Amino acid sequence: MKKCSVPNKKIMFTARVQSNEPVGRCYHKMTIELDKAGSEAFIDLVPGQFAEFDLRNLSLPPKDGIPAELADISQRQVILRRPFSFYDSTIIQNTSPPVIRLGILYWVLGPVTLRMTTLSKGDQINMIGPLGNGFWIPEGTKRALIIAGGIGAPPLIHLADYLHDKYPQIEKIAFAGTKSLEHMPVTIQIDNEVGATIAEFSRYKIKTYIATDDGSVGHRGFVTECLKNWINDNKHDIDNTVIYACGPKPMLAAVSVIAADHNIHCQVSMEQMMACGIGICQSCAVGTKTDSNETQYKLCCKDGPVFDSRKVVFDL
Ligand SMILES: Cc1cc2nc3c(=O)[nH]c(=O)nc-3n(C[C@H](O)[C@H](O)[C@H](O)COP(=O)(O)OP(=O)(O)OC[C@H]3O[C@@H](n4cnc5c(N)ncnc54)[C@H](O)[C@@H]3O)c2cc1C
Ligand code: FES
Repeated sequence: MKKCSVPNKKIMFTARVQSNEPVGRCYHKMTIELDKAGSEAFIDLVPGQFAEFDLRNLSLPPKDGIPAELADISQRQVILRRPFSFYDSTIIQNTSPPVIRLGILYWVLGPVTLRMTTLSKGDQINMIGPLGNGFWIPEGTKRALIIAGGIGAPPLIHLADYLHDKYPQIEKIAFAGTKSLEHMPVTIQIDNEVGATIAEFSRYKIKTYIATDDGSVGHRGFVTECLKNWINDNKHDIDNTVIYACGPKPMLAAVSVIAADHNIHCQVSMEQMMACGIGICQSCAVGTKTDSNETQYKLCCKDGPVFDSRKVVFDL
């Protein structure tokens, strides 16, 4: 199965914030519009690709806007850009030339994401992108199983939208898991007939399985248990199925074992800590297997962040 190669035309450019709102207790959603150069570079953005954001000059929110558990970490000096992927990419056609609008869903957990919450309409951000290789659609794919763990959801919401638009013939099924209902970065809706669903997937009529560690919504347990159950119930018809996953490393490792056990092609988006984001500093190494089963280090920012799960060495 051949990975599509996306033209590498990353550039530095400016984006302007359109909106930036809290989502539940832990997350924020921000939309940005790219300038002309950025819009040209992002026209062929693939779900799973990302950008590096320069947010060093932002101030912290006022003290009463900083959760107690982040008070210490908020004081850390910010030196590096930060990587973010996108849950949405829209071409605004009524402008000449067309402008790209991107959606970012972020978890507020440290000095930069705290500062991001202070951005408001009209503020400018310096960015580098598009970076890395996103998800690819192997020829003959008939079914996509989309597995989102916690804040791994954004590139998979984007993938659902992309598949709906470009590959309507592919059946899509989504699985989402987190610690609890309040840690869900997506919109839970209660449907009297089918129970809890996720608006970001159900708007495309994608059947969704939900899991939380504490059982506050959906299955009590890991999302990988839902995946395993689904595969066991549908073993007879698993050919041409592809698994797409993004989330914490232990979840990706578990998904990759399930995929290997059932001989299902699986792509995982790895969230390594990154510094430069463009293949220079070597800080984002991911162990991968060569054909002769030796370990070879690849760069998450340049060779990933999406990898064929059979190639990844999950050193947990
Ligand atoms: C390719 C890629 C795409 C990404 N896309 C998104 C996205 O769409 N939305 C989003 O919210 N984040 C995303 N991230 C993660 C994001 O870059 C970090 O959350 C961000 O850099 C945190 O910056 P900070 O200064 O606020 O916190 P930091 O000081 O960098 O981190 C604070 C603490 O949180 C821990 N931490 C950082 N990231 C994570 C994580 N993902 N899971 C668990 N603990 C973590 C750190 O180890 C540290 O202890 C992505 C990362 C990569 C590599
Ligand atoms: S982040 Fe610098 S090489 Fe990947």
